[in-house]
Amino acid sequence: MRELHGKVAVITGAASGIGLALARACVAEGMSIVLADVESARLDTEARKLRDEGATVLAVPTDVSDSSSVDELAEAAGARFGRVHLVCNNAGVGPGGVTWEVSEQIWKWVLDVDLWGVVHGIRAFVPQLVGQSEGHVVNTSSVTGLVGSPGMAAYSAAKHAVVGLSQSLRHDLELAGSPVGVSVVCPGMTRTRMNDSGRNWPADQLGQPPETGLEPSHPDTRDSFYQRMEVDSMDPAEVATQTLDAVRMDRFWVIPDASILSRLDAEVEAVRRAASTGDRAPRHVAADTQGSTQ
Ligand SMILES: NC(=O)c1ccc[n+]([C@@H]2O[C@H](COP(=O)([O-])OP(=O)(O)OC[C@H]3O[C@@H](n4cnc5c(N)ncnc54)[C@H](O)[C@@H]3O)[C@@H](O)[C@H]2O)c1
Repeated sequence: MRELHGKVAVITGAASGIGLALARACVAEGMSIVLADVESARLDTEARKLRDEGATVLAVPTDVSDSSSVDELAEAAGARFGRVHLVCNNAGVGPGGVTWEVSEQIWKWVLDVDLWGVVHGIRAFVPQLVGQSEGHVVNTSSVTGLVGSPGMAAYSAAKHAVVGLSQSLRHDLELAGSPVGVSVVCPGMTRTRMNDSGRNWPADQLGQPPETGLEPSHPDTRDSFYQRMEVDSMDPAEVATQTLDAVRMDRFWVIPDASILSRLDAEVEAVRRAASTGDRAPRHVAADTQGSTQ
């Protein structure tokens, strides 16, 4: 979608972090925006700020884990703007925990938001984009959707699934002869409120929050994780800029932190070696970066 000016973007998880940065980047391109988030007070505050700056904004409190809530978001966007052109399935939560200790409730929460949230967004909006023969879908995965990280099994599983379903979506659209584009965003560590995802624990659905497991990362590496959040992490505005470039250029992969590529090379090389010689892949290809991704 080369021309963004005058178009309409829907962004989930838009009250904070990467989603809010995407919203601001869309406004800078002259787009109207529909902001969706489960944190309605913060959603209202950010929407008001953007309106005060001159943006055309609709804010719709939305729980992406609930298909009817996402359907209502699509209806509200259609009622206000007629058409939607860019859909960013970005909302996410990122708790951690040692794989065999992660509670069923945490698994459910992460898969409901990080995976089903994207599925609901695709089912609610893509038929309309296909029908109008114009549009682009952006799904937010993670570096952890490319290479699993220790202490983040549920998150890693959900984010790998988002990569896979985005690839399938792209193939299905191509086979259907649709010009609708797809990008999958795989950020590395980014300065957002992700390490406080527990604030969105849905106590009404899943009961009291667990005492442990709501923080991201492996317990042994937690200190270094938080240090890296401060020191090495990326500005969400940079992730947003690269994402909109990909939309304009119809590029599938958005890998804001290119240093991940050497880790991917190591994984692919290990698989290739195992396939060609029967060698066992090294147990810890990415040992030097444990706990350093989200
Ligand atoms: N921050 C990082 O280092 C990093 C790295 C890779 C990927 N990501 C991904 O980026 C995306 C955005 O996260 P962020 O880092 O900006 O964190 P953030 O916590 O700042 O923003 C996430 C937003 O999603 C919203 N949200 C949570 N549950 C929701 C639900 N059920 N329905 C609707 N909205 C909901 C939150 O209220 C929040 O506004 C996520 O998908 C996350 O997994 C983040």
